[in-house]
Amino acid sequence: MGFRMFISSRRVRKWQCVRFFATCFILSLMFFWRPFDNHIVSHMKSYSYRYLINSYDFVSDTLSVNRSSEDVPSFQYLINHEEKCQAQDVLLLLFVKTAPENYERRSAIRKTWGNEEYVRSQLNANVKTLFALGTPSNPLRREELQRKLVWEDKVYNDIIQQDFADSFYNLTLKLLLQFNWANTFCPHAKFFMTADDDIFIHMPNLVEYLQSLEQIGVEDFWIGHVHRGAPPIRDKKSKYYVSYEMYQWPAYPDYTAGAAYLISNDVTAKVYEASQTLNSSLYIDDVFMGICANKMGIVPQYHVFFSGEGKTPYHPCIYDKMMTSHGHVQDLQNLWKEATDPKVKTISKGFFGRIYCRLIKIALLCKLSYVNTYPCRAAFV
Ligand SMILES: *[C@@H]1O[C@H](CO)[C@@H](O)[C@H](O)[C@H]1NC(C)=O
Ligand SMILES: *[C@@H]1O[C@H](CO)[C@@H](O)[C@H](O)[C@H]1NC(C)=O
Ligand SMILES: *[C@@H]1O[C@H](CO)[C@@H](O)[C@H](O)[C@H]1NC(C)=O
Repeated sequence: MGFRMFISSRRVRKWQCVRFFATCFILSLMFFWRPFDNHIVSHMKSYSYRYLINSYDFVSDTLSVNRSSEDVPSFQYLINHEEKCQAQDVLLLLFVKTAPENYERRSAIRKTWGNEEYVRSQLNANVKTLFALGTPSNPLRREELQRKLVWEDKVYNDIIQQDFADSFYNLTLKLLLQFNWANTFCPHAKFFMTADDDIFIHMPNLVEYLQSLEQIGVEDFWIGHVHRGAPPIRDKKSKYYVSYEMYQWPAYPDYTAGAAYLISNDVTAKVYEASQTLNSSLYIDDVFMGICANKMGIVPQYHVFFSGEGKTPYHPCIYDKMMTSHGHVQDLQNLWKEATDPKVKTISKGFFGRIYCRLIKIALLCKLSYVNTYPCRAAFV
């Protein structure tokens, strides 16, 4: 025991030394390359910023707020299901971010990947799917939409609503709702996932993956489509504009695209804890989650079959491995039928099946011109 502690503290010191020298090196470079401004330099700069931001605490330090427990913004639950997660063996708590008017999308999700009954009977797993939303923000339709929501919830029992206006600039409030709910009512779920309501999730593949992770037992686990060293958008005309006042650094800590990402339950608790100490005015929810995780020292992993903005190419060889794909509304039910068809698994079986699918995937994913889908690497796993 003593010996192991000795080794690990030496390792820590060695690692700190490496970090110190890397930082000095980068800072001296930054000093020297000031007069130059070309492509390579700007790449090196952004890599350096990324390194510094991911390795140190200054981002979360600048966003910390000192507040007593009364000041933490909290909204009342208007629709809630405290009992939803009572079973002990919940494998996954799956939150879908939706808006009051998106009834059609919720309806399609309930028939496909969000169907708890399908997951229980076909995949033998306990997954809880809930829809997270605020109140209708259009004053003219507020009452009508709210009445419809209450009715919808009476039928399906799967809506969690808090008393804040549902809008793009309140997405971080929706994130806090989900983490608050997960921690209060479902801390024992093994995994937590949050997804947009225009996403496709290959539930059989996901559940199989989660069950294998559960067997190994993972901690500090966070996976999705990782954005590395992404810079804040300073163009005032953009929807994603972020002022210097809101975020002063030239890059965000690494984070996973909000379209869909997955974490283990210890991370849910840690991110929630961090969220209570940070200024949540930054309304880009996945970035804010990244800052919370960064504060707790949790690093995201890249999964090549989690899409960011991108859409999957339609092919059984892709369905065999896919986890999520973004931008499916009209075609959701068709894709669900095709992608979860048991025939998909037979096509890539055997020696020739494997070669056939490898070639198809290379042809679909490794194009020279950029297509917004899974990376070329995905053809080789
Ligand atoms: C925040 O609170 C801590 C301890 O409660 C205190 O030491 C620190 O000075 C406070 N910071 C600010 C900016 O008020
Ligand atoms: C966010 O929600 C709060 C509480 O309902 C509301 O006062 C505010 O106007 C909303 N912000 C936006 C940008 O919609
Ligand atoms: C949070 O940041 C905003 C700027 O984005 C600032 O106006 C606000 O005062 C800050 N809130 C706290 C509690 O520090």
